[in-house]
Amino acid sequence: MAPRNLKRIINQIDDLPTLPRTVLKITELVNNPKSSARDLASVITDDQVLTARLLKLVNSSFYGFPQKISTITGAIVLLGFDAIRNLLLTTSVFNMFSSRYKDQRAIQERFWDHSLGCAIGAKVIGTYLRYEKVEELFVSGLLHDIGKIVEMLFLPDDFMNVMALTRQRNSLIILAESEVLGFTHPDVGKLLAEKWNLPLKLVNILEFHHQPDQAGRFIKETAIVHLADILARAIDLGSGGDNKIPALNAEGWTSLNLKPNVLEPIVQEMEREFHDINWVVTGTG
Ligand SMILES: [Fe+2]
Ligand SMILES: [Fe+2]
Repeated sequence: MAPRNLKRIINQIDDLPTLPRTVLKITELVNNPKSSARDLASVITDDQVLTARLLKLVNSSFYGFPQKISTITGAIVLLGFDAIRNLLLTTSVFNMFSSRYKDQRAIQERFWDHSLGCAIGAKVIGTYLRYEKVEELFVSGLLHDIGKIVEMLFLPDDFMNVMALTRQRNSLIILAESEVLGFTHPDVGKLLAEKWNLPLKLVNILEFHHQPDQAGRFIKETAIVHLADILARAIDLGSGGDNKIPALNAEGWTSLNLKPNVLEPIVQEMEREFHDINWVVTGTG
């Protein structure tokens, strides 16, 4: 199939997923040290769905608070700003993954598990490295393969061909994308992140998560997501659409300065957190 013009396709898709405005506003507030719990509460309570979801989450047995929490301000005080933002972003992106194209539900669920596994891995690795903004790493992991979801939703026939070729050759999905579509999910992810006005660091991570050595000044953050992607596959947290584990990028690995013996405790922590968080977000796992 002839390669298509990626930019043209993306521009034609009016209906590219948008991040809920509330989540973007919350991200801004959380990043501003002057914000108060009351500022954050007023943004959340403007959105009835988010309000209901958040109250349900904080009153779930996952948190195990002895008393019932009936106000958003109370939830913020108990959980903290970053945890609130994280939960809301996680549930919003999850909705985006599962809201359409019901035929593909099984694939979407496995993609979701893979993304969540990578997000948790990135956070765990970041914590090991004493990286300051582990929340950012979590979000990057959650979104790293979002380009595949866009392909599945907007180019369903081509995407089926990509999946078929991947299976037939038992190869990486990214190679089949190049051949069938003429572009790859990192290309699409980059465009989507730009459309969402996400920070340059995130745009770079999405674009280079398979080649962190190309990520310039963001090599370290990108290598963290790259490694988390590989570890999530290695321990079978969901599936990224193929059964192969991509090769570890040598320069990316070196940039992390990690000793190989930390990988075992890292994957153990990933497994534990994955089952805890997945239960809260999806009610399963
Ligand atoms: Fe990927
Ligand atoms: Fe991935």
